[in-house]
Amino acid sequence: MPATSASAPGKVILFGEHAVVYGQPAIAVPVNQVSAKAIITPLIAASPAAIQIEAPAIGLDANLDELSADDPIAVALAGAFAALSVEQPPAFKLRISSTIPVAAGLGSGAAVSVAIIRAVAGFLGRSLADKAVSDIAYEVEKLHHGTPSGIDNIVVTYGKPVYFIKNRQLDTLRVGAPFSLVIGDTGISSPTREAVGDLRTDWQADPKTYDSLFAAVGEVVQQARAAIESGATGALGPLLDANHGHLQAMGVSSPELDVLVAAARASGALGAKLSGGGRGGNMIALVEEPDADTVALALQSAGATNTIVFTVR
Ligand code: MEV
Repeated sequence: MPATSASAPGKVILFGEHAVVYGQPAIAVPVNQVSAKAIITPLIAASPAAIQIEAPAIGLDANLDELSADDPIAVALAGAFAALSVEQPPAFKLRISSTIPVAAGLGSGAAVSVAIIRAVAGFLGRSLADKAVSDIAYEVEKLHHGTPSGIDNIVVTYGKPVYFIKNRQLDTLRVGAPFSLVIGDTGISSPTREAVGDLRTDWQADPKTYDSLFAAVGEVVQQARAAIESGATGALGPLLDANHGHLQAMGVSSPELDVLVAAARASGALGAKLSGGGRGGNMIALVEEPDADTVALALQSAGATNTIVFTVR
């Protein structure tokens, strides 16, 4: 069996994070400038089912049987073997690397899972339908943050812009005209599980207030979908701003995110918001393409540890 590799992109949520967990729609796009990669090489002399795992970025160098049963890598591998009906895989070494910052709202967990699942299938000379890949990655997402909507595994698996509603069939999103975004990283790691969990506690204490915030976000998402599909991209700026306001009201922004959002707007962005779980991680700004570098520099001056400029098509 030859060595095999697979990769998966990062993602940003353009509109609708958090409210999507409560049944509202959301829009997300892949970010191909960053990716997770899984490389599998056969271990010829080793006994069958011996699986070595190396993930230098997290200091992991272990055999699969040393990982706990609920380790995300173990669950991704077990899901892939089950979907492929493989009871005793041949011995192999799995090496995982990623340029997607962890706990930053860019879908790193989902991308690592998808890369692993596809690399296993490729190594075994098989293929898995996107739906099967995404479903396995969703099981891993549950370990990462308890009650995931499923949007991360969907956008990372399909690698195209999506309009997503939890537990509904995937709706693709036609991008009527390309538009440019700048991503700014606060450099603050913020596990999605915590922001999602805290918001759930707040929602349980005051469902009326939070349900109306989620519904307001749902309205924004519907308008954004219409603007993206019709190519009226200028309309997206105020919608990003409105969505950020709702996220602030939900308590999932942070001073650092608000500083970057304000810096983006002050330097010419058409609108900006936090993206993903919040409390840290990344924000996005909509820009006219010629202004992208100016906005990226302004974000860096305001404290962004990294910026990515990209175009959604
Ligand atoms: C995380 O990328 C997006 C959240 O809406 C959580 C989820 O959808 O599962 C915060």
